[in-house]
Amino acid sequence: MNVYLETFGCQMNRLDSELVATQLLLAGHVLVDDRKGADVVLYNTCSVREHAEEKVYSRLGADAQRKANHRPGLIVGVLGCMAQRLGESLRKRFPAVDIVCGPGQLGRVAGLIEKAAAGEPGVALDPRRGEAPRAGDDDEALDALDVARDPRQVPAAAQAYVRVARGCDNFCTYCIVPFVRGPERSRRPDRVVQEVRRLVDAGRSEVTLLGQTVNRYRYRPGGDRAGTVRFSDLLERVASVDGLRRLRFVTSHPVDFGDDVLEAVRDLPTVCEYLHVPPQSGSDAVLKRMKRGYTRSRYDDLVDRARAIVPGVVLAGDFIVGFSGETDRDHEASAELIRRSAFKNSFVFKYSPRPGTWAAGHLADDVPDEVKRRRNRELLAVQAEVSLAHHRGQVARTVEVLVEGPSVRAAKQAAKPTPEATQLVGRTRGDHIVHFTGSLRLVGQYVRVRVTDATALALLGERAEGAP
Ligand code: 5AD
Ligand code: SF4
Repeated sequence: MNVYLETFGCQMNRLDSELVATQLLLAGHVLVDDRKGADVVLYNTCSVREHAEEKVYSRLGADAQRKANHRPGLIVGVLGCMAQRLGESLRKRFPAVDIVCGPGQLGRVAGLIEKAAAGEPGVALDPRRGEAPRAGDDDEALDALDVARDPRQVPAAAQAYVRVARGCDNFCTYCIVPFVRGPERSRRPDRVVQEVRRLVDAGRSEVTLLGQTVNRYRYRPGGDRAGTVRFSDLLERVASVDGLRRLRFVTSHPVDFGDDVLEAVRDLPTVCEYLHVPPQSGSDAVLKRMKRGYTRSRYDDLVDRARAIVPGVVLAGDFIVGFSGETDRDHEASAELIRRSAFKNSFVFKYSPRPGTWAAGHLADDVPDEVKRRRNRELLAVQAEVSLAHHRGQVARTVEVLVEGPSVRAAKQAAKPTPEATQLVGRTRGDHIVHFTGSLRLVGQYVRVRVTDATALALLGERAEGAP
């Protein structure tokens, strides 16, 4: 069948979609880009903010109409976090939905499609927290999707994501993730290493390790403390895979960010000097209501340690504006934190109460939307200044760029691009976006680029003379 698969949300979802795509290709399906022509439409969804869910609702509304009017056989599936959060109720609201599949059940998607084609809708959800015995780190079923990965099936550029942990036990008061992605479990290190090795053998040279709080990775074989594998140990093992050129990891939590991880970043040549460590707020009062588990001064200390231990480290953050009770002073503290930390970039989100979270039940959503919007704009403006200064600091340097593809701007170039002179875009080890002109044949390769100019968003450059 022709399957359209659309992905919302974070990198973890993009990885899950790649694994689902592999599974579908192996089952004989064809992946298509055109939603309207597809026999099966699948949405791998995100619940982290209401906005992400609304987009899916509007897709489902359109699909329901199409199904009712002229495509009665259309199979509609909702996968991932929204499926887990809403379960059966999704099918009540949208009877056109045939498949509801939570993030821990994605190994069953091909089977669910088969059943749906035979007229049998299916709902596959993870047990709710506390309803089933806690799955351990060695849970085979949970690992099956990752282990079955076949990198030859879904060819991508040089990059790949690899899961190292699932779930989250932090319960930040605003966050839905612990409810939809379940308890924190760390994968067996040998499996992670094996997966990376297979990806490298299939031509991927940059690997990003994924976990909701990746630096809290901790594998205890059979609960054995003595044999514990820490995140820094895992980095060392993965970094030793032959042929791997760049190793990244996201997203880190500011708590438990030990010097051992920073030293691993400094000492292991493949590990990139880039850390995404969301502070969420610069104000102690807000951090406390968010139950983040650290104070502003602890966050500052982490930034100072990172800069002292890892020369040239590049930092990035996430912020939530307009969380319950946030005052102008709290907001100012977040702006000040961006300046002090000199983040390369930050993602800024307006607080969106998520049903079921502690904050949604106990803390008023009392910052008016126009204030949230203003604070969002203000933080982004501060970040743009800081980003520009950071990027300007790169001018005249020669950087290594992994070429990702033609840049969107290529299409808008005045002169028609030729295969030998196209606007390309790629990234440095520090995750800087770099635009330069070169041959399309460079996609997937590492080239040296001399930085000639900078904007708040990116570096501009030209290929360095005499470079390979
Ligand atoms: N409202 C707004 N932003 C949120 N995030 C997580 N939960 C919410 C919420 N309820 C943001 C955090 C997190 C990023 C992935 O999404 O900044 O780091
Ligand atoms: Fe969204 Fe979080 Fe689920 Fe990722 S894990 S898709 S960010 S809700």
